[in-house]
Order: sequence, then C-alpha cells, then structure tokens
Amino acid sequence: MVPEKSTHRATAGAKAATGPVLLSEIPPDEAERWSTGSAEFDRVLGGGLVKGSFVLLGGDPGIGKSTIALQMAAHLRERAVWYVSGEESGAQIRQRADRLGLPADRIRLSQETDILSLSERVEADTPDLLVIDSIQTVYRSDLDPLPGSVTQIRESAAVLQRLAKQRRITVIIIGHVTKDGDVAGPRVLEHMVDAVIQFEGDKQATYRLLRASKNRFGPTGEIGVFRMEENGLRDVDQPSDIFLADHNPDVSGTALAVVLEGSRPLIIEVQALVTNATYSSPQRTATGVDPKRVQMLLAVLEQRGRIPFGQKDVFVNVVGGLKWQDPSLDLAICAALASAWIDRPLPPGSVHIGEVGLGGEIRAVAMLEKRVREARRAGFARIHTPGTTLTDILQTILKP
Ligand code: TYD
Ligand code: MG
Repeated sequence: MVPEKSTHRATAGAKAATGPVLLSEIPPDEAERWSTGSAEFDRVLGGGLVKGSFVLLGGDPGIGKSTIALQMAAHLRERAVWYVSGEESGAQIRQRADRLGLPADRIRLSQETDILSLSERVEADTPDLLVIDSIQTVYRSDLDPLPGSVTQIRESAAVLQRLAKQRRITVIIIGHVTKDGDVAGPRVLEHMVDAVIQFEGDKQATYRLLRASKNRFGPTGEIGVFRMEENGLRDVDQPSDIFLADHNPDVSGTALAVVLEGSRPLIIEVQALVTNATYSSPQRTATGVDPKRVQMLLAVLEQRGRIPFGQKDVFVNVVGGLKWQDPSLDLAICAALASAWIDRPLPPGSVHIGEVGLGGEIRAVAMLEKRVREARRAGFARIHTPGTTLTDILQTILKP
C-alpha cells in the first residue's frame, strides 16, 4: 500500500541524515559529578552525584533517608538546592539541620506537594538539586487517586523525570519501602530512574547499609556503611571491624567469612547452634542467609562429612541483621555447624572462604585474593580457601 511505502522511504532518509560516524569522532559524555561530602555515599553512587541524574533513595521509615539527604544538601554549598518536604514541617527540618550542625542558610525549603505547580516554580528557578521527601506525599491535583497511590507516584515521577532530563536538574526522590521490601508503589519507579539507592539494616541498630541496586552511572551492588550518631550519619571506612566487634572466638559454633559486596570485602560472623531436637521433626532455622542453602550444606555435611544432624535442631545466623547471598559463605557455615556439633570453638585466627558443592568439594570464589588480603589485614592467620578439601577441614575441627 502506498502509505506503507512512503513510511519506508522516510525512515531510510532519516537514517542517511544521521548516518554512521566514527565512534572516535563522538566526544565522550563525561558526566559532571559532585561529591556528597560522604565518601561512602559517593562510592555507592559510583563516584559522586551525577548532574542531571534522577535518583531514587529508598528505605524503611526512620532509617535515615531524610538525614542523609539533608546532610548532602548542606554539603553542596555552592549549588542551589531545593528541599521539598511533604513529610515534616519546616520547623522540624530546621531542627534537624541544627541538630546535625548544618548551615541552613543555603537550602531552600518548599512544602509544595502539588507536583505541577512545584514543577512550574522549579523551572522558573532551575536549582541544581531538587530533593523530594517523599514521592508518596506529592501528587497531581488533576488526577483522582489519592497521594501515595501507584498512579500518583508514577505520574509525579514522570513530571520529575522531565525536570531532570530536560532541565538537567539533579533530582533525588525519597521513597518509603513496604514490608516486603519494594519501594512502595514502585517497581514502576525503578525503571524510570537512573539509580536506585536503598538503605538496609535494622533501624534500631547503629549501623546502616546503603546499596545501589541499579545505577546507570556506576557499578551496582556497591555498598556504603554508616553509623547513626547523635549528630547524624557518619561514614564507617573499615566496615569489617564493626562486624567483628562482638566476635568471640572462644565460643563454639562461630566462624568467620569474607563476603564481597560490590568491590568491597567484608568479614562477617556466622553463628550456628545445634541442640537435641525438641519435636519429632527437627527444626532448621536460618537468618541472614538462604535457609535452602543451609539445608543443602547440612545434607553435604551428613553425607560427605558423616556428621549426623538427623535428630538435632539446627540454627544458623549471620550476625548484623543484614542478608547475604555470597556463595563463599558456604565454607564458614559448614565450619560453624561442625564446631557447634562438636561444641568446640574453631582454632583461633580462623577464616573460611569457599563455596561448597554437593560432592563436598570446595569451589573457587570470585576475587579470592582481595578477600584473603582483607582477612590478613584484620590479623587472621588461618585462612582456609578453595585450595583445601572439606574433609581435611572437618577433620581438624572434629578431631578427638
Ligand atoms: P530520618 O532521617 O528522619 O529517617 P527517614 O527519613 O528514613 O524516615 O532518621 C530517623 C532516625 O534517625 C530517627 O529515629 C532519629 C535518628 N537520628 C539520630 O539518631 N541522629 C540524628 O542526628 C538524626 C537527625 C536522626
Ligand atoms: Mg524522612
């Protein structure tokens, strides 16, 4: 048909006009980055906040999203910052700034939650950075659903995305997380933004982890570790030391592993407890690691290591209130279980690194060198790596 043909020709013409050029002739898009004032936050962002980027900052209520956003806003002193809060009153935010010891003379606070009129004002002023605290409190007054509904969140985010992309305004949207771990409303937001940065951890605990689960401008999986203090969030630059602080090597059933989070090795403690089963079907409980993985390792220890767990209750816990998926934890879990079973502590200075296979073989793990170096730095001398066999390790732990 005629229209189809002409469409074809039009497309071909467009192609010729934008015809291929040498890649070397295209100037690299070197993103302009600003330091947030926190080396940990900068690391998670991939080396600082990218100008014109659209970032989602998620986490449970009370975990520190407003705190970190305000600290960052105050640090960016030479930039024009708009802080939009639909969550708290101006007085509350001023109070927080004072408590944090932050200069409050450069941050403009707006309590406008109608996103279209906010957008108009922002366009008239074009600040460098716009913080929306939170996406659940802004809305489009021309749409029916209530603020916080999926439609409102998506439509408001679309307006903000336009500000970021067309006006090159850096936009950080804060979002609360629902119980099941999704940023509320919000798988819809994840594909709209350039980066998803999530706070993890227990808000009762002192330590908070920040993780990039998506980042168009840097590696994903990179983590930052913070301590919540009286006057705000502080960087923790040797995170292994905090996970080790309460480690008691004289207790049976505790083993150390080195997990890799992003580019960063962390020493963490695995604890196991093995007791006689109280009920006819023994309990198997795991926190901080996948319970199925623990089931599998128990089967390997039974079958390959001849340790009878049959009528025992087994508990495994990775301390710190965080969840880990690194398969290199396997060997430390096995060592903790064997040590708990025989009720004898592991030899002092032990660290276990390795993935355990169904055949009882210890498999290689990514970036072993880096992990070993971290264990040495922290002063550990007995570092078990995939060079040995599970049988050898178990023999040492279980020897009479
Ligand atoms: P906040 O940033 O308000 O959390 P979010 O915005 O994620 O809901 O931080 C909340 C908690 O942090 C609050 O329980 C009080 C505590 N906090 C401190 O311990 N020290 C501080 O300096 C600040 C500002 C807050
Ligand atoms: Mg808040």
